This record gives sequence, structure tokens and C-alpha cells, in this order.
Amino acid sequence: MKKLSTIKIAIPNKGRLRDPSLELLKAAGYRFRIKERMLYATCSNAGVTLIFLRADDIPLLVASGIVDLGITGQDLVREKNAKIKEILPLELGKCRLCVAVSDNFKYKNPASLDGKRIATSFPNITKSFFKKNRAAIDCLEMSGALEITVGLGLADAIVDIVETGDTLRENKLRVVEDIGTYQTSLIGNAKSALSPEVKQIRRRLEGILIARRYSMLEYNIKKELFKKAETITPGFEAPTVSEIDEAGWCAVKVMVEKKQVIEVMDRLESLGATAILETEIKNCRL
Ligand code: PRP
Repeated sequence: MKKLSTIKIAIPNKGRLRDPSLELLKAAGYRFRIKERMLYATCSNAGVTLIFLRADDIPLLVASGIVDLGITGQDLVREKNAKIKEILPLELGKCRLCVAVSDNFKYKNPASLDGKRIATSFPNITKSFFKKNRAAIDCLEMSGALEITVGLGLADAIVDIVETGDTLRENKLRVVEDIGTYQTSLIGNAKSALSPEVKQIRRRLEGILIARRYSMLEYNIKKELFKKAETITPGFEAPTVSEIDEAGWCAVKVMVEKKQVIEVMDRLESLGATAILETEIKNCRL
């Protein structure tokens, strides 16, 4: 496999994806310094250069091989119809792309918007959604501030990203259709996806993502109850069981999804487990 000399990773230069992307790379061991208005940053401990670009330019720059990798939204990849290879979904920036209308608009189905104007920064996805639903719409392409268009009478509906729904509520809009759900991904192209350096980047990031999702749980349990305890804590792979001084007892170490930890602790305690401890996993390779 041909080596790629320095891996160029495109990172969103602003917006909600930028800081979480940089934090993730730092957690995975990449060292770099970001200065105000810098357009790129070189890693001091790896052959990696971060290039700060607009999130919506990243899919096509990665697809064309101008940069090797990119961190951007799956929504933008789809909108740009970019021929990329998804390397790793990053569990960040989860959002929905929705059709929203004003609270008092009488909406039944997409045909309710036939002949209407829809403001969006996702014109391709929007046109294809309404075409599929046989509604002829007038697509008003904008790059931001979509929510105010309906109140001002510039558009009848919008197709936009919804995360918490606060922006819609503030503007007296409501979701009437979900077009898709997306998250942030590490993307590459046919060439970079196969390179050993990119595989290493993927493994490092994956280690952090798993560590963020799981806790380590330790407990002692009577050996005769271990099988029952194992059904409560099957682990990422399998629990590690070791002998302890107390006759008839064993110690168990197992990964548990963070969102389930409290309930799992309750169940283990009811079963008779003792010394149940939760610890953070900082990083891992599984
Ligand atoms: C997006 C989207 C909405 C807002 C929705 O904009 O365009 O304005 O987030 O989020 P909410 O449901 O949590 O209120 P973003 O902040 O990404 O900035 P942008 O306008 O530059 O795309």
C-alpha cells in the first residue's frame, strides 16, 4: 500500500462541529496548537495537518482527493452527493433534517406545500424529497437564517437542521416531516481510506469513542451467582473474572454502557454483589 506522506484532515472552521472535532483529535493523542484565525495547524507528534475549511466544502474536497480526510456532517455529504468513503461516524452533532411550517399553517402531507416556496440550505435534498412526494415547490436557496423567512412572508416553509428544536420554537415554527437523521463523520476517499496511516487514525479515534460510551464496572459476587450477574453485565466482549481471598467469591471487571450503569448497579446489588465500583475509561483498544 502506497503511503500518504502527511495526512491532511479538513476540519470545520466554525460552527457546532469545530470544537468537538478538535477535542476528539486531542483526546486521541494528536498534539497541535490553534492560534486565532489560523487556516491550518500541524501536529507536532504525528504526520497530520489540520486544515480549517467550511463544513459544506469538505465533502467535495475529500471526494476529489484535495484533502485526505475530513470531519463533517453526513447531511452535507448527502447534499453535495459526494463520492466519499465513510471511515467512522463520530457520535457528534446528531441532528435531524426537517420540513417546518408556521404553527398556524394547515399541514396534512407534503402535497400541502405544492406550489409553495421553501427556504433551505439543502436544495438538492429538499428538491428530491418533494419530487418523490409529487409536490412542485419553489426552492429558495439560502446559506443561513432560514427561520426568519417564514415570519417575514419570504417563504411558506423551511427545510433545516433541528437539534434541540429551540430555534424552531423561538420562531413559532413546527416540524411536519423528518427527511433524515445525521451525525458527524470522519470521511475519506477511495485512496486515503486504504492507507495504513488512516487506519491508525481511525483506530485511535475509535478507542476514544468507545471509552466515552462505556464505564468500567468492578464488583465481587458469589461464584454460584456469577452466571446470573453475567446476564446483567455481558460486557463489550466478556467480563474478566478473577479469584479473591474470600472463599466462594470472585471479582468481576466488565465494561457497561454509561447510560445503563445506574440501573445495572441496582440490579447487581439486589443480586448480592458487593464493592461495586464504576470507573471512567480514558482510552481503549478493543
Ligand atoms: C442550525 C440550523 C438551526 C439550528 C437548529 O444552525 O440551521 O438554525 O442549528 O438547532 P436547534 O434545533 O438546537 O435550535 P447552526 O447553529 O448549525 O448554524 P448555521 O446557521 O451556520 O448552519
